[in-house]
Amino acid sequence: METNKKAKYEELLQGLRALIAGEDEAVSVMANVCAAVHEAMGFFWTGFYLWRKDELRLGPFQGSVACMHIAAGRGVCGAALERRETLVVPDVERFPGHIACSSLSRSEIVVPMYAPDGRPLGVLDVDSDRLNTFDATDAHYHGLIAELVAPLL
Ligand code: SME
Repeated sequence: METNKKAKYEELLQGLRALIAGEDEAVSVMANVCAAVHEAMGFFWTGFYLWRKDELRLGPFQGSVACMHIAAGRGVCGAALERRETLVVPDVERFPGHIACSSLSRSEIVVPMYAPDGRPLGVLDVDSDRLNTFDATDAHYHGLIAELVAPLL
């Protein structure tokens, strides 16, 4: 299972690198990265929130309609950005302040992104409709995916 997941991510990353090679339009790249990740991994919701005017605003995503504004420090997304660490949440109902965009979302992983000078850029947010979906392998690869996008923001 674990090996299988790693192999899937490795193949996905290779595809992503080829897909976005030479591209410099952040919105286009984020849109296609979401589509590729979402399809390859079968997630429930895959998307970016972007740091704009001191809040997180909804960026390109795949999945259901989602909240468009997340205040600084709020929800899993805001907490990850503020704490400057990837958050893996096995059960969103047990995360104080979790923002439920969909009642079907059960577990979540959020990777924050920053500019080289430390300025916040946004987050890569992925939700699952099952409990306890994400682990250190997901955190590792979602970090690499975020690193592909961050230089364009
Ligand atoms: N659950 C997130 C909000 C965004 S939706 O999952 C798309 C959070 O608490 O940050």
